[in-house]
Amino acid sequence: MIHTNIAITFGAVYFISSVFATWIDPSLLDACPGYNIANPASQGSTFTADLVLAGTACNVFGSDLKSLTLNMSLENRIHVKIMDANGSRYEVPESVLPRPNATFGGSISSAAIQFNYTTSPFSFTIYRTSTSEVLFTTASHPLIFEPQYLRVKTVLPPNANIYGLGEHSDSFRLPTFNTTRTLWSRDAYEIPTGTNLYGNHPIYFEHRTTGTHGVFLLNSNGMDIKINDTESTDGSVTLEYNVLGGVLDFYFLAGSENDPLEVSKQYAEVVGTPAEVPYWSFGLHQCRFGYTSYVDVAEVITNYSEAGIPLETMWTDIDYMDGRRIFTVDPSYFPLDRMREIVDYLHTHDQKYVLMTDPAVAYAPGEGYGTYNRGSALDVWLKMPNGSAELALVWPGVTNYPDWFHPSIQDFWTTEFGLFFNTSDGIDIDGAWIDMNEPSNFCVLPCTDPFQQAQEMALPPPRTAPPPDPDTPIFGNSSSIASSSLGKREDLLNPPYAIQDAAGNLSALTAWTNATHANGLVEYDTHNLYGTMMSVATRAAMLARRPGLRTLVITRSTFAGAGAHVGKWLGDNFSSWQEYRLSIAGMLGMAGVYQIPMVGSDICGFYPFMRNHNADTSISQEFYRWPVTAQAAKNVLDIRYRLMDYIYTTFHQASLDGSPVLQALWYKYPKDTSTYPIDLQFLFGPSILVSPVTDENSTSVTIYLPRDTFYEFLTLEPISGTGANVTLTNVDFTEIPVHIVGGSILPLRVNGTMTTTELRQNDFEIVVAPSAAGNASGRLYVDDGVSLKQTNGTTALTFDYQDGTLSVNGTFGYNLGVNVAGVKILGVDQSPKNVSLAQDLQRLIALQQYFPIAAPRDL
Ligand code: NOJ
Repeated sequence: MIHTNIAITFGAVYFISSVFATWIDPSLLDACPGYNIANPASQGSTFTADLVLAGTACNVFGSDLKSLTLNMSLENRIHVKIMDANGSRYEVPESVLPRPNATFGGSISSAAIQFNYTTSPFSFTIYRTSTSEVLFTTASHPLIFEPQYLRVKTVLPPNANIYGLGEHSDSFRLPTFNTTRTLWSRDAYEIPTGTNLYGNHPIYFEHRTTGTHGVFLLNSNGMDIKINDTESTDGSVTLEYNVLGGVLDFYFLAGSENDPLEVSKQYAEVVGTPAEVPYWSFGLHQCRFGYTSYVDVAEVITNYSEAGIPLETMWTDIDYMDGRRIFTVDPSYFPLDRMREIVDYLHTHDQKYVLMTDPAVAYAPGEGYGTYNRGSALDVWLKMPNGSAELALVWPGVTNYPDWFHPSIQDFWTTEFGLFFNTSDGIDIDGAWIDMNEPSNFCVLPCTDPFQQAQEMALPPPRTAPPPDPDTPIFGNSSSIASSSLGKREDLLNPPYAIQDAAGNLSALTAWTNATHANGLVEYDTHNLYGTMMSVATRAAMLARRPGLRTLVITRSTFAGAGAHVGKWLGDNFSSWQEYRLSIAGMLGMAGVYQIPMVGSDICGFYPFMRNHNADTSISQEFYRWPVTAQAAKNVLDIRYRLMDYIYTTFHQASLDGSPVLQALWYKYPKDTSTYPIDLQFLFGPSILVSPVTDENSTSVTIYLPRDTFYEFLTLEPISGTGANVTLTNVDFTEIPVHIVGGSILPLRVNGTMTTTELRQNDFEIVVAPSAAGNASGRLYVDDGVSLKQTNGTTALTFDYQDGTLSVNGTFGYNLGVNVAGVKILGVDQSPKNVSLAQDLQRLIALQQYFPIAAPRDL
């Protein structure tokens, strides 16, 4: 019969290993009665009905709710919401994820997708109007709605191409055999495949040769989404949501029959387009856990400069803190005056500095720790059901967690940032790194005595190295080189249905799920929002420090919509080839589906956010430490810096309409079925194909080239793709295969600089890479790169190449102050004898103060 989880008695009944996660015979769930429709009512583009339990309750994981309410509205998508008719239940607060504009302009019959339902038992179907194909259907699988268990199940075609439902480290196209995607934030060291990781994004895109659509379940409760192709004889795939609470709030995104980018844009309409980041944030970032003192940090900065590798931003991990307490510096190892000296040095050299801030605040009554005292005075800590502040165990030892729902939390956080990170007597950071915000907890359940565990784990650890000599100068000295709405749920700690949380119990290695926020909401419902709420608060605190300036905030835990505020790194991957390969898929999820384009994985890689970082237990890995690596870094940074304005333009476009910054190949070649599983190659923006070598010790890579024209980035040699694999040989360890997609025009910067500030003073070089038909187009967007509202104006150009004529159009509101040093037209047999500039180019010459053209070369 039904096999429920087995609780192992361990002090208290808390620990449930993931191996005991619930397994249920699917036919038992399908034998549940479902609901019948009553009182259906249509009005314009909306439909409402009551849903009444259709028979004897099956009570699989609690008592079936007797009556539900169904609301369907046709917006720029289809919105289906199913709730408890007799009381409110938890929903993701609008303060965390504002709801999209719900208007619908056209006629219902002209909508791209339609909603259909059956009355007895109730089921609903979403189908594409133009083709009549079913995109989502609950037919044959009754809806189950219990206090702590909600089930919805759809059937998809055999071999369905499903992307999303992360954060995960599975392949980008999800396996359809016996796969469970669990969404429950977890500090997932080594990011094991098949497990729940740091972030939660209950959205998937399904791609077919006939179109791409999306399904977003707006729900932050823990859930298992099970995908399987063994339940039917024809190989159909079932996709089943098993959710621990909240309501069923589905957004069905029509996408498009021909252009997968549409579904991305439609998802961005629901969760928000990505926040714009500063231009400098696309430069190289260097970090590590384990810099033992400010001397190490200064040395790394100097060494990068000596090695001729452009370092844009230096980072420091928790090492700088005093006893690992946030908003403090260690007076001997990272004294404030030295930290300020480092920041001054960096800023004088047009470089930036980022420091880590964790959420957990050391529990330190009577110790004169300002942050703890001020937080306690405002009482902003997450509470246990008895009203006492929850005690957790993180880097500084015993800690309290900030409650991001507390009415004073933003004041508290902004104040702490302002006191510590300021120009007058603090550390003037340029961006913030926030970590451990699942939230992470080292206290092992039942965690009855975190103080005892802190002692056993020696937290915070003592420093072992002697402190640096305070009189030694650090720069310029060559010697230094080298709710209320919870309803009647009984068990917030051990709900009857156990999701496959790889940490075991829901509260394992995180906050207690029965911990309460100031507004009455409980962690059980809001756990998956913790990192995003910290992100929003941190961004606001950074913006308050530097009004009008964009900032960079990089977080570890995210929920749907986080990208509208912050960027993200993929957490604690290992430096193994397998994890490198999987990091590409992870990144495609973030930037290609979840609308978090500012994403990277601890180097190595070719990521939007490019940061070298490693753990305190690993050897140093700054690029300059090995000649081959130094050369590889220089080579890749040269390509990256030349492409910097193309990357910036791509990000700007994403901030306007959600166009994905990274795209799997099927986004561009949607009818080419060979592209569907590919996740080791990707498009960076619309015009750059990246095909890295991903096997150890290999100097060759087999890549897929769709039927299209490509140009090798460095040699500009054309290659005709034939829809087949091509093996590139003799790829040196220092090279990465990059191709320009035919049909593109790239505004490249002439490189040779050490910072992005310098780079912006360099000329452009326009590369026209025509398609087989001889046409090409491209864009360039430029602003000052730092101001939040583009107060210094914008320049936005479109380039078009047709019939041998290059034309440029646009607006010239931002003064670039540089030239176009040359125009290269690829794929022409011989040098043109005569060059005539199209009218728009002549116009550019006329507008010399904005974008003057120097004598064109290379034509
Ligand atoms: C965990 C983070 O994932 C890692 O990047 C960081 O170095 C450590 N915390 C220490 O802060």
